[in-house]
Amino acid sequence: MSLDPSDWNETRALGRTMVDDILSYLQTMRDRPVWTSVPADAKARLSEPVPRAGAPLAEVYAAFKRDVLPYPTGNIHPRFWGWVMGTGTTTGVLAELLAAGMNPHLAGYDQSAAIIERQVLDWLKELVGFPADASGVLVSGGTAANIEGLMAARVAKAGFDVRETGVHGGPPLTVYGSVETHSWINTACESMGMGRRAFRAIAVDAAYRIDVNACRARIAADIAAGERPFAVVGNAGTVGTGAVDDLIALRALADDFGLWLHIDGAFGALAAWSDSRALVAGQETADSLAFDLHKWGYVPYEAGVILTRDPGAQLATYQPGRAAKPAYLQSGNGGISVDTTYFADRGQQLSRGFRALKVWMSMKEQGVDRLGAAIQKNIDQAHRLGDLVAAHPDLELLAAVSLNIVCFRYAPSGTAEKTLDSLNAAILIALQSRGIAVPSQTVLQGRFAIRVCITNHRSEDHDFDFLVAAVVAIGAEMAATAPFNARSS
Ligand SMILES: Cc1ncc(COP(=O)(O)O)c(C=O)c1O
Repeated sequence: MSLDPSDWNETRALGRTMVDDILSYLQTMRDRPVWTSVPADAKARLSEPVPRAGAPLAEVYAAFKRDVLPYPTGNIHPRFWGWVMGTGTTTGVLAELLAAGMNPHLAGYDQSAAIIERQVLDWLKELVGFPADASGVLVSGGTAANIEGLMAARVAKAGFDVRETGVHGGPPLTVYGSVETHSWINTACESMGMGRRAFRAIAVDAAYRIDVNACRARIAADIAAGERPFAVVGNAGTVGTGAVDDLIALRALADDFGLWLHIDGAFGALAAWSDSRALVAGQETADSLAFDLHKWGYVPYEAGVILTRDPGAQLATYQPGRAAKPAYLQSGNGGISVDTTYFADRGQQLSRGFRALKVWMSMKEQGVDRLGAAIQKNIDQAHRLGDLVAAHPDLELLAAVSLNIVCFRYAPSGTAEKTLDSLNAAILIALQSRGIAVPSQTVLQGRFAIRVCITNHRSEDHDFDFLVAAVVAIGAEMAATAPFNARSS
């Protein structure tokens, strides 16, 4: 007995229904609230004992349609702009089905899927200006990609055999980046055994870009104190405001001290596909560049990328070397295990899925020019929203718009500063829970900001008009009622 269907025709018919249903769901998503909390009855039904005995697939699918499908994060909706969440493409959805059907194992092997991943990586290198012989690998996302970059940096620049001895084999290692660097840096420093102390958070200027001189001074001071700097991290699009560090200056700084330059371009790197590519100029000079395709590449989760300029450096981070490779992972001179591209030697994952297919199919179907135009549209929309906010007497722009992020608050004149944080937090919750729109939040110079990050190919200008009107209406409604009216000056 296998686990295959006993009636293939029945499964085929149900599969067609599923494809129909999910495409209709995507086609009509604008008509639904952006987000709805999972109701108590659905939650209760989703808490079940281990299903020892099976049930017909049609029944399982009915449960999915009733209790799972209606309650997504909402990032497929045109008015979802929270955190940095991509929208996905219908082609990506279908590609996931096909990839799962083939179910290839992407450690390497002589197979089409490995050729597709290599092809996708070649396109990506070209699009961000990396050399053709650079190394790369697809990973789960930005955090994983950035960690891979820092791992390669450490092996290349630690000055001792950190793979053999661990961090105890030499002086304390240090890495530099701005205070605006995403929290992946802490995850990296902790999981790499260096501890969070290894990260030297450098101040930013008024535009939230790293203070390069302060960084230089800190590196010099650390060297004098016996620490071992190994990498500088540049941001091509900070998570807070979308600021792009002076990447050219950071390259020069890294060179002056013989350090590795890693650039986190989680979403910003993709600006290179658009007419605004000058905004991320310099990222092509990085020793390693991390970015996501599930953010501004619009493909469904998960798809991150790490590119490493020196192909040897990425291999040196993981490749055990022929002698040390376990017998069960050795390649033959022919047959399936012949080494085409052994992706498992380029990162932490051995078992790897066919992430590349959704990227390959989306890029081929849309064409990169069209994807770049969608990215440019998001940048234009951010500037337009920034202008709307700046022109509105009751709204305040809290950071200059550089890429695709707009941070603002409702701040009618006369409202006490101390009230504004809680008032705007309440506005944000109302926007989300009324299903109007999903921005997220941040704090800029101590002030609570409603943060709109646009990596959404479905958003139209009228969606942002709607947002502005909703913020002002909800703000006025709340400001007139307790507790906010009582706290106003
Ligand atoms: C600038 C930046 N770096 C890294 C990350 C982490 O990426 P991921 O969530 O894909 O792990 C994010 C996520 O938003 C980000 O904005």
